[in-house]
Amino acid sequence: MGLFGPLKPLVRAEEDGKALAKTLSWPHLMALGIGGIIGTGIYSLTGTGAGLAGPGVLVSFALCGLVCACAALCYTEMSTLIPTAGSAYTYTYSAIGEVAGWIVGWALILEYSLACSTVAVSWSAHLFGWLHDGLGLQLPDILMHAPHAGGLVNLPAVLVSLGVMGLLLIGARESATLNILLVIIKIVALGAFVFLTLPHVQAGNYDPFAPYGFLAQEMEGKKYGIMAATAIVFFAFFGFDAVSTSAEEAKNPGRDLTIGILGSMAVSTLIYMLVAGSAIGAVDFHKFAFSGEALPHVLREVGYPLMATLVGLAAIVALPSVILVMMYGQSRIFFVMARDGLLPKVVSKVNKKGSPALITLVTGVFVAVFAGFVPLDEIAALSNAGTLIAFIAVALSMIILRRRFPDLPRTFKVPAYILVGVATILGCGFIFYSLPVKSQVFTFIWMAIGLVVYFSYGRWNSRLKKEGA
Ligand code: ALA
Repeated sequence: MGLFGPLKPLVRAEEDGKALAKTLSWPHLMALGIGGIIGTGIYSLTGTGAGLAGPGVLVSFALCGLVCACAALCYTEMSTLIPTAGSAYTYTYSAIGEVAGWIVGWALILEYSLACSTVAVSWSAHLFGWLHDGLGLQLPDILMHAPHAGGLVNLPAVLVSLGVMGLLLIGARESATLNILLVIIKIVALGAFVFLTLPHVQAGNYDPFAPYGFLAQEMEGKKYGIMAATAIVFFAFFGFDAVSTSAEEAKNPGRDLTIGILGSMAVSTLIYMLVAGSAIGAVDFHKFAFSGEALPHVLREVGYPLMATLVGLAAIVALPSVILVMMYGQSRIFFVMARDGLLPKVVSKVNKKGSPALITLVTGVFVAVFAGFVPLDEIAALSNAGTLIAFIAVALSMIILRRRFPDLPRTFKVPAYILVGVATILGCGFIFYSLPVKSQVFTFIWMAIGLVVYFSYGRWNSRLKKEGA
């Protein structure tokens, strides 16, 4: 029994035919990581970040890379120690207790589901812009926007969410294989971007480097500065953690998860620094500040309109891979929460192929409704908030379990674990503090709702409680 309710045993046999099939190996996991990381963040939020921080957004990217590298180390140790599908939720449940685990699972809904919805909406905007600018086609506004934005439903966002759900229903391995192709398209497009813009870099474009200062400060109801940009571009970095949700489906968890999590994080950070550095250096940041399609915008500015159209097309083709990875992660987390009795058990059934079909369906519909109808203005910031809470919990769980069970066999050990763990907690805490106030308030309301749900349902139906733990 922990301070926050019963502790889930570190390793338990999963009975009742409720274990997932082991079909994935390290190339799948590394592609899953890159597939989840590279997306709306770099394609769209680079413009927002530049608008909030000026060229100093490069520091924002570097800070996010540093904090996420520390978090990725913690995730790698925890996912190889506890290779089940629940990720941060399971680690917290085992290290801190049931209530804390539930709260982290509840925060992960913000991370995964809202990330899917955000990317679906951004995909729809890219499609709209591309059809309009590239082919001169105008889709009816009423079917392109949610009610708050003057439409009826954001139909493309709904359709892409349901399409990805259909793919996941076919199977994890098929989805992961298609994901590899989408990842290659994304990397080629970003590589072409760097290749074309790098020769245009001028030192003058980096000056003044931090026109809005370092700390987030409010101006006209909006936070500006390098830290404010950090809190937003953080969206670009997460996704590597979704690899840990596949732990139960990995053939050789120790090796596959280590390469998958750390490899995808390292490759993506390198690509981001190159893309952001060349975008800022090639064009005066004012020209693409707050642009929703920052990268094509920069390419047009430096005189490559055709390549701008192609990079826009690559975004349309490849962005669904983020939805795929995040929806996959969400369904696995819901699956484990249901298996633990904190959500209704019926959703934890697996089909003949070893996939949790019902929960995938529920997740897909949930994401599609959000994407189609709910105001999404600051939803990326909310998704960041949920992720930051999960990262803090994973670092804390890593430290607690190291101290409580120092001798457990660990395939991967975080070097200087106290330092890395504390750096993750403080770094994520500081980024959370820099988020828009509205997002912070909503996150606390969301957590309070989570507690009500737990004390009305999970507390009484928990598998551990029924087993008398
Ligand atoms: N990191 C993912 C993206 O930028 C969520 O789309």
